[in-house]
Amino acid sequence: KEERSLFSSDFLWGSASAAYQIEGAWNEDGKAASIWDEFVKQPGATYKGTTGNIAVDHYHRYKEDVKLMAEQGLKAYRFSISWSRIIPNGKGEINLEGLKFYSDLIDELLKYGIEPIVTLYHWDLPYALQASYGGWESREIIQDFTEYAKVLFEMFSDRVNYWVSLNEQNIFIMHGYLFATHPPAVKDPKRMYEANHIANLANASVIKAFREGGYKGKIGPSFAYTPSYALDCQPENCLAAEQHQELLSYFWMDCYVRGTYPRLAMKVLEDKGLAPTQLPGDSELLKAGRPDFMGLNYYQTATLEANPSDGIGFDSKMNTTGEKGKSESKGLPGLFKTAVNPTLETTNWDWTIDPVGLRLALRRIASRYDIPILITENGLGDFDKLEEDGTVNDANRIDFLEKHVSEIGKAIEDGVDVLGYCTWSFTDLLSWLNGYQKRYGFVYVDRDEESEKELTRIKKESFYWYKDIIKSNGLSL
Ligand code: BG6
Repeated sequence: KEERSLFSSDFLWGSASAAYQIEGAWNEDGKAASIWDEFVKQPGATYKGTTGNIAVDHYHRYKEDVKLMAEQGLKAYRFSISWSRIIPNGKGEINLEGLKFYSDLIDELLKYGIEPIVTLYHWDLPYALQASYGGWESREIIQDFTEYAKVLFEMFSDRVNYWVSLNEQNIFIMHGYLFATHPPAVKDPKRMYEANHIANLANASVIKAFREGGYKGKIGPSFAYTPSYALDCQPENCLAAEQHQELLSYFWMDCYVRGTYPRLAMKVLEDKGLAPTQLPGDSELLKAGRPDFMGLNYYQTATLEANPSDGIGFDSKMNTTGEKGKSESKGLPGLFKTAVNPTLETTNWDWTIDPVGLRLALRRIASRYDIPILITENGLGDFDKLEEDGTVNDANRIDFLEKHVSEIGKAIEDGVDVLGYCTWSFTDLLSWLNGYQKRYGFVYVDRDEESEKELTRIKKESFYWYKDIIKSNGLSL
């Protein structure tokens, strides 16, 4: 009997990246600074002070990179556009050289039959908007983000069928306004929820503009979803897991799909005096921004237990060095705190490795929202070693990806509508706070924190593994 693939014939086997993490050329051809270009200048902001000034020089080497994608057989490539390359001041004048770069990149992809998936915003806000009105804290950004998006829709929607609006709003807002580990490095929950509400409105406004413009194609946000588990079946711990799910997951996804904040999470914010200011018209705008798909960035699950104390604030002690066991429990007093899941292995950066969690994430989203899902990120950050014979044997990554792909197949069998799968990442790239030693790619880039060396591209073992998966449409699993 002939084996049949669980994946549809047009399943988007892809891989992903983000402008700041790969492009370099931070001040070339009319590009102005983004908030990340400025943030990384502050001593101690990133691992060993690394920046994306050169990154992996994709800006100058995109043809070589796309050729490698074609050799691997990629069906889709997700990348982000740097706003300050297109509109250097965030509003106003358009930089034609910036548009040309992305236009050429899209053409290069299409030449090989690779579907471009374009992210409008992957964290690199034009610095001018931060300086002039405080970026996401001002409602002015709603119009500016929409105008910027409309430029891209007008220019590229003849060739682009998939758009991602905001990448991981939950991450850039929490890290930017609560943990102070991303720009603008604020620690203020009230400001965080205000900025987050404005980002929700901006996201909805862009999706509404896409619809009103009558462009072909699909659009949706990418959400960093960390499904929650209870540490055990103790009812208090189960409740903690639910609180986590409401406040850290449904709080964003409900807004995207339903256009409303979840009632229970909002009650918590109201009780704590943290609820965002809602003006007349906000609710209508949120409802008008229903996406065509949910973009899912999945890396890990979280395990929760009750947090009766008021001793632990919502803080983030991150492991940015790759020395295992450096993360600490975090949580919200009275609601939940994170616990170690005794059943799961972790990466060197203390992220749980949980393929079944991906099936669970897909099922939960499908069940609650009944919307197609595009997996826009999933991957393993690891120390890869370039051997003397010029090979990189990333068996850990193959194992990780294989198990995750297999769980996607099961979710499809469960009835989830999965449009595609983009691994993170295609080439190695800058891992925001963790430098270049935390690698994710199918293609090794020979550089480190100290030196750019020659930035040579070297195919890892996983490159060939994914090539077979794509060619066999998942049957080689
Ligand atoms: C996601 C981001 O949060 O995870 C990516 O969208 C990021 O930009 C990826 O690189 C992995 O995170 P990290 O911190 O390991 O680079």
